[in-house]
Order: sequence, then structure tokens, then C-alpha cells
Amino acid sequence: MFKNLVTLVTGGAAGLGRATAERFVKKGSQVVICDLPTSNGAEVAKNLGENAFYVPADVTSEEQIQNLVDEISKKHGKLNVLVNCAGLCNAYVTYNFKTGKPRTLEDFQRVLMTNVLGTLNVTRLAAGLIARNEPDENDLRGVVINTCGTEAFNAVSGQVASAAAAGAIHSFTVPLAHDLGERGIRVVSIAPGMFRTELIDQLPTETEEAITSECILAPNRLGHPDEFAHVVQSIVTNPYINATTIEISAGLSLSMNP
Ligand SMILES: NC(=O)c1ccc[n+]([C@@H]2O[C@H](COP(=O)([O-])OP(=O)(O)OC[C@H]3O[C@@H](n4cnc5c(N)ncnc54)[C@H](O)[C@@H]3O)[C@@H](O)[C@H]2O)c1
Repeated sequence: MFKNLVTLVTGGAAGLGRATAERFVKKGSQVVICDLPTSNGAEVAKNLGENAFYVPADVTSEEQIQNLVDEISKKHGKLNVLVNCAGLCNAYVTYNFKTGKPRTLEDFQRVLMTNVLGTLNVTRLAAGLIARNEPDENDLRGVVINTCGTEAFNAVSGQVASAAAAGAIHSFTVPLAHDLGERGIRVVSIAPGMFRTELIDQLPTETEEAITSECILAPNRLGHPDEFAHVVQSIVTNPYINATTIEISAGLSLSMNP
């Protein structure tokens, strides 16, 4: 099945996106990696071999993403799977009562712009190409998989921006599935808990240790990015998964606020 697929992974140069690109290339899919021009996307694609192709683009740019979709159309003639992993996850409090300073508006804008509007931008521009596929035996033409985060359901101090972004992506999963379902395109979101990626590596070691020992049920560790990629694979191969958010977190619960 994977040998006939063209998969676009945004944020594919690092973390959850890179793990997805790696797994899908191994399975035989053609994979297009989209990431910022400043990323090491070219190197990641080169290491993955001839079935991986890197297009530098910012998910928040209409022009760059339209060019990306045009390039995929020219190179592969089709797109079957879109995996939106490009995103940020900065932790900060809304108001610092010690310094008397509010967090800047730009800090909130950056997270919401990249995670929420970036996901919608790529999806809206790629949907037309996916819709051109011949329907399969289930009358389906493709699937869009978005990344939100368990912050959508359970978040603590410092997570206002990422919770707002994750909550938005979770909330538009069903209406987006209705919009695109008209042409047999499924929409599914994944809510990861805490995975060992470059993004999580920014956390102080003591915070990470407190989270793994007190907040993650079992197994008592951060997730491996390939375990996220495994969920992406399950969604692609199971046509009956649609219009839902799937959590993968080993029972993460941040209610204790370590
Ligand atoms: N890692 C986790 O534990 C975790 C948990 C919950 C949610 N998430 C969410 O999953 C997504 C991916 O996280 P990750 O851990 O893989 O992060 P990461 O930092 O390891 O990788 C994200 C990738 O996205 C790219 N990117 C950022 N802005 C971009 C833009 N404007 N255009 C194109 N590419 C862009 C980065 O260059 C990077 O390569 C994020 O939205 C994050 O909030 C991650």
C-alpha cells in the first residue's frame, strides 16, 4: 500500500515530523518534507534516500505553500497523505507578577500563527490536489493528519499558548472532516503527550524528571517520536478512523503541576 502513496510531512526536518518521514520512507512511500529554510531538511531528505524530497517553506506563507503544492503536483502528480507536524511549543506565563510584565503579544501570535493557521494554510492549499485522486474501494481519496497535543484537554501554568493552539486544532478536526469528507478526504488529529524531540529537549532536566516520575503513568518515560509515527501509520492504513482526535500519552496527567 505505501508504495503507491505520496506523503507530505510539514515540520519533517525534526521531531515528530522527521520520525514520520523516516517511517514512511521505510514503508515505501514517496515523502515530501516541508520545513523552514533554516532547518536541516535537505540533510534529512538526503539521508533518507531517493524517495525523500525536501522543499523549504514556511507553513504560514500562502505563496510558499502554494509553490510547495505545485512542486508536488509537478514531481509526483498527486498527494495522498498530509501530515501537519510543523509547530512551536513555548512555555511561558501570561503575566510575570515578579517583574510586573505581561508576556508579549508576539509570543502568543507566533504559536497560534504557526500551529493553528499554519495547519489550516497547508490543509486548504493541499486539499485540491488530494481531491484529484481517483477514489479507492471505500470512495476515499486521501487523509489529512494534524498534530495538536494533550494540552488541548489537560494543561497547567505556562501552557496557555500551546493549549490554545492544541485546543483549536482539536476543535476544528470534526468540521474540517465534514468540509473535506465531501471528496472522500479523512481528517484525524493526534494529541501527543510528551515526546523526546528537540522541542522537549529545551525543558530543564529537573522539570523533565519531575514530569516523567510523577505525571506519566506507564511506561514511565517520554515517548519515542517513532511511537507517534506508528499512530500516523495506523491512521493511514485504517480507513474507518475519521473525524476524531487520538491521544498518545501513556496516561500523561499534568494536574499535579510539578
Ligand atoms: N514533542 C512533544 O512532546 C509534543 C507534545 C505536544 C504537542 N506537540 C506539537 O507537535 C508539533 C511538533 O512538535 P515537535 O516536538 O516535533 O517539534 P520540533 O521542534 O522537534 O519540530 C518541529 C519542526 O517544525 C518546524 N517548523 C516550525 N515552524 C515552522 C514553520 N513556520 N514552517 C515550517 N516548519 C516549521 C521546525 O523547524 C521543526 O523542524 C508542535 O506543534 C508541538 O506543539 C509536541
